[in-house]
Parts: sequence; C-alpha cells; structure tokens
Amino acid sequence: MKAHRRLWLVLLVLTVTLIALAATVIMLNKRGEASIVSDAVPSTFSPDQIERGRYLALAGNCASCHTTRGGAEYAGGLGIKTPFGTIYASNLTPDPSTGIGTWSPDHFWRAMHNGRARDGRLLYPAFPYTSYTQITREDSDAIYAWLRTLPPVSKENKAHALGFPYNTQAALAVWRALYFRPDGFAAQSQRSEEWNRGAYLVNGLGHCIACHGARNSLGATTNWDRLDGGQLPGEGWYAPALDSDAEAGLKSWPTAEVVALLKTGVTPRASVSGPMAEVVYRSTQHLSESDLHAMAVYLQALPSHGSAMQQPVPLQRSGALMQRGEKIYSLHCASCHGESGEGKTGMYPPLAANRAVNLASPSNPMQMLRFGGYAPTTEGNPRPYGMPPFGHVLADEDIAAVLTYVRGSWGNNAPEVSMLQVMRR
Ligand code: HEC
Ligand code: HEC
Ligand code: HEC
Repeated sequence: MKAHRRLWLVLLVLTVTLIALAATVIMLNKRGEASIVSDAVPSTFSPDQIERGRYLALAGNCASCHTTRGGAEYAGGLGIKTPFGTIYASNLTPDPSTGIGTWSPDHFWRAMHNGRARDGRLLYPAFPYTSYTQITREDSDAIYAWLRTLPPVSKENKAHALGFPYNTQAALAVWRALYFRPDGFAAQSQRSEEWNRGAYLVNGLGHCIACHGARNSLGATTNWDRLDGGQLPGEGWYAPALDSDAEAGLKSWPTAEVVALLKTGVTPRASVSGPMAEVVYRSTQHLSESDLHAMAVYLQALPSHGSAMQQPVPLQRSGALMQRGEKIYSLHCASCHGESGEGKTGMYPPLAANRAVNLASPSNPMQMLRFGGYAPTTEGNPRPYGMPPFGHVLADEDIAAVLTYVRGSWGNNAPEVSMLQVMRR
C-alpha cells in the first residue's frame, strides 16, 4: 500500500514537472511576440515604399534561398541543407493559396521578427529570422510591399525532409526556447551614425553571422557578438572569422578595399568564390556605396581577436609530400599563379602571402582545387578569370601534396594537408 502511494506521488510530481516545462517552452516561444491586429491585406503602396523594399530584399538576399535555379522569382522550392535534413524555402509570391497572398503586414512582421508563419507554425531558423529579427517594422513593411508587386505564382511548398525528432514542432519549440530571442536593433549613441547603419545591415538583413559565425552541435550560433568563422553545413566551405587578424584580418585592409570586395568580388589581395561569390553576385554588389562603406566601417571596428596569421616558427612538413607537390605545381599551376606564387595582377591571385591560402583550415583551397573557382560577374569586374577544376585530373594524394607545397612555400606557413583530410571532403 505504502509503495503504491509513493509511486503515485512520483508520477504526479513527474507529470506536474513536464506540464510546467511544456508551459515554459510555450511561453518562451511567445515572448516578445506582436499580436495580429489586422488580417487586412492592403492593395496599394507608394512607389517609394516599393522601391525601398526591393532594395532591402537585395540586402537580405531573400531571392538566393526563395528562388530555384531557372524557377520563377521568389516562388520557393530551394532545399537548404542542414545537418538535420533539408528544409525547403517557401513561396513568397502573392498567390493566395500557395504563396503569401493572404498574409497581412502583421503576419509578415511576425514571421520576420518572431519566426512564426501565418497559421501559427514555428519556422525553422534555416530562414535566418534569428538575424532578421533585428530589422525595423518600417523595413519589414517595405519588403512586404515589394513582394506584393511580384506576379503571383501557384506553386505548393515542398515538405521538409527532416528526421525525427527534428521534424516536430515540439523539438523546434525547445530549440527556440534555448536559442532564439526576438530582438530589435538598438543604436549605440556613442558610435557614429555610419557605424550604426553598418551594424544594422551586417547583423540584420545581411545575416553575415549565418555563415561567418560558429555554431554548436544543434546548429545554434554560439556567440552573437562575434563573426568568429564557421564551417558551412553540408558544404566544404569555411567562412573565415571577419574579426580575427589570424583569418580575414579586415582591420588591416584599407576601407576602400573592403568596399571593393563587397561591390566587385575582387581586390588586389583577395577574391571571393563559392558561397561568398553568390552573396556578392546576388546581394552586396547591388547595395549603395554609402551602405557598403557603413558595413566596412562596422566590420573594421569589431574588437579584434587572434594575432597575425603567420606562425612564427616554420612548421614541419613531409619532404616527400613537398617534392611531389612541387612537381605538380610547376606542371599544373605555375602557368597562372607564377613559379614563385606571385600571380598576375588583375588576372590570377598570388598564392604567396595570401590569407585564404594560409588559413589554418585547408577547406577552401581544397574546394577550389576540386571544383574550380569563379569570382562573381559584377559591374566592376565584368569578366572574371576562373580557376579550372582539378578534381578529375589530380588524385586525392596529389591534391594533398600540391596544397602542402603551396602552404609551405614562398613564405607561406600553414599546416600540411594530409590525404585523409582531402578524402574526408
Ligand atoms: C538562407 C536561406 C534564406 C534566406 C536568405 C531567406 N529565407 Fe525566407 N525562408 C527560408 C526557409 C528555408 C523557409 C522555410 C522555413 C520553414 O518552413 O520553417 C523560409 C520561410 C520564410 C517565410 C515564411 C513563409 C511561409 O509560408 O511560412 C517568410 C515570410 C520568409 N521566409 C521571408 C523571407 C524574406 C523577406 C527574406 C529576405 C529578407 C528571406 N526570407 C530570406 C530560407 C531563407
Ligand atoms: C552563405 C554563406 C555566407 C554569407 C551569408 C556571407 N559570407 Fe562572407 N564568406 C563566405 C565564405 C565561404 C567565404 C570564404 C570564401 C571566400 O573567401 O570567398 C567568405 C568570405 C568573405 C570575405 C573575405 C575574407 C577573406 O579572407 O578574404 C569577406 C570580407 C566576407 N566574406 C564578408 C561577408 C559579409 C560582410 C557578409 C554579410 C553581408 C557575408 N560575408 C556573408 C560565406 C558567406
Ligand atoms: C588557368 C589559370 C589557373 C590555373 C592553371 C590554376 N589556377 Fe588557381 N586560381 C585561378 C584564378 C583565376 C583564381 C581566382 C578564382 C576566384 O576568384 O574564384 C584562382 C584561385 C586559386 C586559389 C584560391 C586563392 C584565393 O585567394 O582564394 C588557390 C588556393 C589556387 N588557385 C590554387 C591553385 C593550384 C594549387 C593550382 C594547380 C593545381 C591552380 N590554382 C591552377 C587561376 C588558375
């Protein structure tokens, strides 16, 4: 009898605890949530508001996720790969049944600011509302206005391909309770107006941290105050720390060069490729000179971490790898990058004293070698030179050897690349 009663008591306590936990999670998911005041869908907008929305949508790079290659603009369907499965971007055209045609500006704001869909469903943070939550209501309304001017496209949203438990709203609710907090941009009065504009763009619409910030095993950004570098999920690319002298080292660049990189995709010291080429092509090249300058000013003022890139002491490398690498280099690479890695100004980047080559992680040079690399075509760089892919020419061991050679010659001093590292990619 006594044991019975104790069991009941334990069960009761457990149930109450579970209910309390669930209530807490639900409450945390609703914090800061604006209520839907109006379901009304406005039909007219001023040309100024629409134009502003068009520009802001470029700054937020909405089309890169919400448009498939060759598909109708903003009609969704692109799969975003995450370690937990694939999440498909939605149809943002004003189609009433498959798009966001019945959404009011209040609904749209709740999606951007709180990550909740019109029907109350919690949205996956593959949609970077964790950053967009910073934007103002005015900017949200402008983007809404611009989206309303698009031709409606009837295209059903694709179901996400996620395994259990990631496919449940409960798991997403717990994740959000732990890692998401709706937030608005708070200007810092001791900083210049330009710095504040840059902070707003970089941390809000620009969502640079989505790639340039480290994440934990549950895919959550670990430090919102830093652009400390991140490995892109499902891809071999590493987005270098923008606030570290050991990586991008933006602090030491002339501001005009940071602007030029975002505007044209190339500077004498760097060129962008892979996912960053997409960002420049679809988003930053379209921003005004003054907005890009503001972003550069903000990025260069980030508190710096890490010290100069080059290791003071030359690292140990396998002699056999170096010799093999040297042969491959003169055969396949020297014609463009030069016998001593000096490159050709305006055509082929130098590999000597190149930050991208000397990053501790060999991810990006490995990607370049395998798949080739192309800077984006921009107004300021209309005919970029490309690097041919070597994935079908060179064996994994050759790639390891030539990268070890490049990373250990002409003053470069980055760790050697093993065949295992190349194979794992
Ligand atoms: C990195 C990829 C990515 C970018 C960039 C992105 N989105 Fe999305 N968006 C998604 C994904 C994925 C979903 C689906 C999330 C879900 O269903 O849980 C989504 C969903 C949405 C939804 C909810 C739609 C619905 O029917 O539930 C809205 C609204 C939205 N995005 C607006 C925007 C706007 C506006 C921008 C640009 C400022 C933008 N998105 C940029 C990936 C992205
Ligand atoms: C989709 C992922 C992604 C997003 C979003 C992104 N980046 Fe990048 N970025 C990368 C990758 C990957 C690289 C490394 C490859 C390269 O250098 O081109 C990179 C490189 C860079 C570099 C060059 C660093 C160097 O060492 O040469 C700068 C500067 C930069 N990003 C700035 C930004 C800014 C500013 C934003 C936000 C407006 C941003 N990035 C958003 C992925 C991203
Ligand atoms: C036909 C000329 C050509 C050849 C041959 C070539 N490259 Fe390149 N390489 C380029 C160009 C152009 C870029 C810049 C591409 C970009 O901006 O995306 C580049 C970029 C790179 C980068 C990235 C540099 C950076 O700043 O991000 C590395 C590393 C690299 N090449 C290594 C090699 C190696 C190793 C070989 C030989 C196996 C080789 N390349 C052969 C033209 C070439």
